[in-house]
Amino acid sequence: MSKKIYVNEHILDYSEIKAAQTILDSGLLSSSNINGGKYVKDFEKNIAQFLDVKYAVAINSGTSALYASLLSLNIKSGDEVIVPSFSFTATASAVVATGATPVFVDISSSNYNIDISLIKSNITKKTKAIIPVHLYGHPVDVDLIAEITSPDHIAIIEDGAQSLGSSINGKKCGTLGNLGCTSLYPTKVITSGEGGVITTNDETLYEELLRIRNHGLDESGQTTRFGLNLRMPEIESAIASIQLSKLDDFIRIRRRNSDILSDIIGNFNLNLPVELENTFLNRYLYTISLDKSRSEVMNYMEKQGINTAVYYRTPIHKMPYYHSMNDGYDLPNTDLASSKVLSIPIHSGLSEDDVQNIGNKLNDVLKTIY
Ligand SMILES: Cc1ncc(COP(=O)(O)O)c(C=O)c1O
Repeated sequence: MSKKIYVNEHILDYSEIKAAQTILDSGLLSSSNINGGKYVKDFEKNIAQFLDVKYAVAINSGTSALYASLLSLNIKSGDEVIVPSFSFTATASAVVATGATPVFVDISSSNYNIDISLIKSNITKKTKAIIPVHLYGHPVDVDLIAEITSPDHIAIIEDGAQSLGSSINGKKCGTLGNLGCTSLYPTKVITSGEGGVITTNDETLYEELLRIRNHGLDESGQTTRFGLNLRMPEIESAIASIQLSKLDDFIRIRRRNSDILSDIIGNFNLNLPVELENTFLNRYLYTISLDKSRSEVMNYMEKQGINTAVYYRTPIHKMPYYHSMNDGYDLPNTDLASSKVLSIPIHSGLSEDDVQNIGNKLNDVLKTIY
């Protein structure tokens, strides 16, 4: 039987195993130094260089990256933070963790990102930040958001959990706002098992973040602000650096695979991912939109050993926890996207033949429906 294909898989080889072994042998598994251990510092240097940004802070998850970023801006109870509802729940839960209130805004149906034209009408005196999500790896035009938010000094935190390697107007996602957050969870373009990173060009925020991830301690060992243990261990940091060195190759293969798929299913009207002239997509998720029979397509593909997935079947504001807090939202594009989207595997562990096979199988079932 051939191997089951998943929408995303981590790709590791002997180099990650060797690095983990070296660190285990060294006995230095983590460091509570404010600047982190050797491998933490190396990873931060490597990712800052890759993104062309001044500062990077490695942290233990993408969720922690968002939470720490909000804390560094002193966001707290009584404040509001604008977020899209069509995202992973962590985009909003990081806001709730600070005591602030997430304000959900609808998306644009073309690329599933926050609808920039709706931002202004959602700004109130309480709005302190906005978290645009580069969903599926599609860059949000953060400069356009800044034009709307800067008069009110509203900070921009990019949720770039899915967009490492994507860019817009020649600038990489994660460097476009005041702070950029990335996730290194195993389903992402690169992984360290669990992990995240925050990037910024702002020295003051950088210094706050170093203390936030380490119990609020300063160089003299005093807790001078609220913080937690959000540190990234040495093994994860070493793995993250190795994975980062492979990122360009991973993205090249993802782009080849998604182009093969688009060639095969391009004749159906499925709102295929579009790369605009000023954008470069890391092709994190290849997501199509099906007007009908989504479960039928999923079941058929599953029977062929090909997993497909819906990101996101329930928008955040409709999740039970959030719905009980606020049920007054009307986000029609978000609702529509939730009912239609389907992500198809194109990850960098798939060969041209694998993707050809996925495309042919998808084509077979789509022909019976459209
Ligand atoms: C859009 C988005 N935001 C935040 C996160 C949270 O990242 P993590 O799982 O590393 O905490 C994820 C990924 O899981 C995500 O996809």
